[in-house]
Amino acid sequence: MKKPSHSLLHSLVTLALLLGSAKADPQPLQDYCIADASQPFFLNGAPCINPSLAASSHFTTSVLSKPGNTKANPFGYSVKLTNVSNLPGLNTMGLTMARLDLDPNGLVPLHSHPRASEVTICMKGTLLVGFVNTSNYLFTQLLRPGESFVFPKGLIHFLYNMESVGPAVAVSGLSSQFPGTQIASLAAFTSKPPIPDEVLKRSFQISNQDVARIRRNLG
Ligand SMILES: *[C@@H]1O[C@H](CO)[C@@H](O)[C@H](O)[C@H]1NC(C)=O
Ligand SMILES: *[C@@H]1O[C@H](CO)[C@@H](O)[C@H](O)[C@H]1NC(C)=O
Repeated sequence: MKKPSHSLLHSLVTLALLLGSAKADPQPLQDYCIADASQPFFLNGAPCINPSLAASSHFTTSVLSKPGNTKANPFGYSVKLTNVSNLPGLNTMGLTMARLDLDPNGLVPLHSHPRASEVTICMKGTLLVGFVNTSNYLFTQLLRPGESFVFPKGLIHFLYNMESVGPAVAVSGLSSQFPGTQIASLAAFTSKPPIPDEVLKRSFQISNQDVARIRRNLG
């Protein structure tokens, strides 16, 4: 094989350095890397502003102070998240904070976060939480205010408000600045373009009518 040229090696090293510095999760290489929202190019994470321009306001947000709209979905829950737009100091820290509000008997339906583990604390109400491991075993727990539960990275989980009169509130920490969320029912039945009916019928062992009804119900 031909020996790689000096300039090729140089480009490879440069590329490796660029890719390395573009990795937002999990280890920051600086005290902080305050997200520079004005940069139009795409990185795995956001580029940083000059550290000498850092201000306390970059590290604070009130985005979790109010509940979101629990009526915007058929399940009766809302989630608010910190991200690099509303909390730029979080960039490269490998962290997200979430506020979950659940109506009486509201449900955060079966979902997973492909890039983060999650630890949640029940602040109000009575929450039935659980996750299913890759052997389809369900770990589940009833949480009362002050009690916490961990959802391991990538595993399907849910939170359900057991109370039929009062709302529930939980706060979660997630181990990525961009955890990603896939809601199982929506991914299966409301993807665009749609998953072929035949695939859904066979996957869930249901009929054409079932597929149509579920698609309709999920909107
Ligand atoms: C951050 O979240 C807000 C909603 O709270 C959203 O409008 C915005 O697009 C998000 N920014 C990023 C970079 O994900
Ligand atoms: C899932 O949990 C069950 C019950 O504890 C256990 O027997 C099984 O080995 C677990 N699977 C994995 C992949 O950890």
